[in-house]
Amino acid sequence: MLAELGAPVVRTPARSICNDIVYNGNVRMTGIRSIEALAPPVYLDYAATTPLHPRVLEEMLPHLTREHGNPSSPHAFGRRARSAVDLARDRVDRLLHGDISEVCFTSGGTEADNLALFGVARSVTQRRRIVVSAIEHHAVLNAASRLGEMGFDVVQIPATRSGSIDLNSAMTLINEDTALVSVMFANNETGVLLPIKAIARMAHEAGALMHTDAVQAGGLMRLDPHDLGVDLLSISAHKFYGPKGAGALWVRRGLKIKPVLYGGAQERERRAGTENVAAIAGFGRAADVALTERNHWVLQVDSARQAFQQELAHLEGVQYHGIEEQRLPSIINFSVSGVAAELLTMRLDGLGLAISTGAACASGSLEPSHVLLAMGMDEAEVRSSVRVSFGRGSTQESSRAAAQLLGAVVTDMRLAASAPNPYCRTARS
Ligand SMILES: Cc1ncc(COP(=O)(O)O)c(C=O)c1O
Repeated sequence: MLAELGAPVVRTPARSICNDIVYNGNVRMTGIRSIEALAPPVYLDYAATTPLHPRVLEEMLPHLTREHGNPSSPHAFGRRARSAVDLARDRVDRLLHGDISEVCFTSGGTEADNLALFGVARSVTQRRRIVVSAIEHHAVLNAASRLGEMGFDVVQIPATRSGSIDLNSAMTLINEDTALVSVMFANNETGVLLPIKAIARMAHEAGALMHTDAVQAGGLMRLDPHDLGVDLLSISAHKFYGPKGAGALWVRRGLKIKPVLYGGAQERERRAGTENVAAIAGFGRAADVALTERNHWVLQVDSARQAFQQELAHLEGVQYHGIEEQRLPSIINFSVSGVAAELLTMRLDGLGLAISTGAACASGSLEPSHVLLAMGMDEAEVRSSVRVSFGRGSTQESSRAAAQLLGAVVTDMRLAASAPNPYCRTARS
C-alpha cells in the first residue's frame, strides 16, 4: 500500500533500527528508531481489516454523492440504486461460484454468522443440537451461547494442538439431534484452514445443515460453497479491500431460514431494512477485483510473510502456532518468550508498526485468546503471542523492517526485564 501510494519503500539495514541498544550495568540506552521516522507507518494487521481498494472507492462514490435512491422505490432514482445492488449481487455471486438468488446481503460478517445460526435454529422444530468449533470467531461463539441460553444443546468440537479441530470428537458430537454445524473456513488468529469438506459430510450424514464462516478467506482463497458441500457461508467485504459494514450470507438455493430482523421484504424477506447501497456496491466491486487479483495477492503476501519470518529467525524464543497445518498465506501467530504481547504491540504501535495480539474485536480486552487456549497453550504462552497479518500493501522491504523493529523492541524489553531496578536497590540500601 505504501509503495502504491507513492511512499518511499523502507530500505532499512538491520543495524539502522537496532544497533544502538546499549546495556551497561544499570544503564540502558535505547536507540530504537521508529519506522515512522524512516518512512510512513507499516500496517501488518490485515486480518483485522484492510484499506479500501481504489477501484472500490471509485464504485462507491456516486452512491455517496449524487445517487441517493432507495432500491425499493419504483422511480428512476430507485431503479438505479436497485441496479447497483443487483450488479453487486452478481459480482459476489461470481466470487462464490453460486446462483444469484443465493446471496443475502448483511451488515457484515457478524450479522451473516448470526443470521446463519439464529436463522436455522429458529426454523427447525425437532432437532436441538448446535455444534460449533471451540476456535470460532465470537460472532459464532456468542450467537451459539445465546442459543444455549434459549434451550439449545450447544456443544464445541475441541481444537488440536496444531490449531485444527479434532475430527474424531466431531464425529461423536454430530448426531441425529443436530440441527446445524458451524465450523470456520480459516481461523482469524492463526490462519489455519479447517477440514470443511469432511465436517460438511459428517453434518449431512446426520441430517444436519452445515455453515462455514469464511470471512478471513474471502479475498484470498477460492470459495465454492457447492464444492465445499456447505449450506450456508459467511463473508465480509472489509477483509478484502471492500468497505466495513457490508457482508453476505450465502444460502443454498431452496433452503428457507427465518430472518433475524423484521420489517420490509428486502433480500427476499431474509434481511429487512433499506440496503446500504454504497457499501454493497463497494462490496461487489471488491469481489470483482478479488477474482482477478487474488492470485497475485497470494504471491505478494507469501513473499512479504517469508521476508518477515526470515528476518525474525534472528530472534530467539519465537514459537509459531499452527504452522504445521495448511494455512492462509497471510496470517502468522507466534509467541515471544518472556515478553508481554500487550506491551509489545503497544510499543510497536508507538514506533509506527501495527500488529495485534489476536482478533481485532478481542484485542484490547484483557481476556487471553480463546483460540490459543483451546489449542492447549498455557496462559503465559498465550499472553506472549502476537498475530501479524499481511496484505496487498505489504512488501518484502517493509516486512523485513517490521521484523527488525519487532526484534529490537523485544531485545530491549528483555534487557529491561533483566536489569536490576535502581529504585529497589535504593530502597533496600
Ligand atoms: C472469522 C471472522 N468471522 C467474523 C468476523 C466478523 O466480521 P465483521 O467484522 O464483518 O462483522 C470476523 C472479523 O474479524 C472474522 O475474522
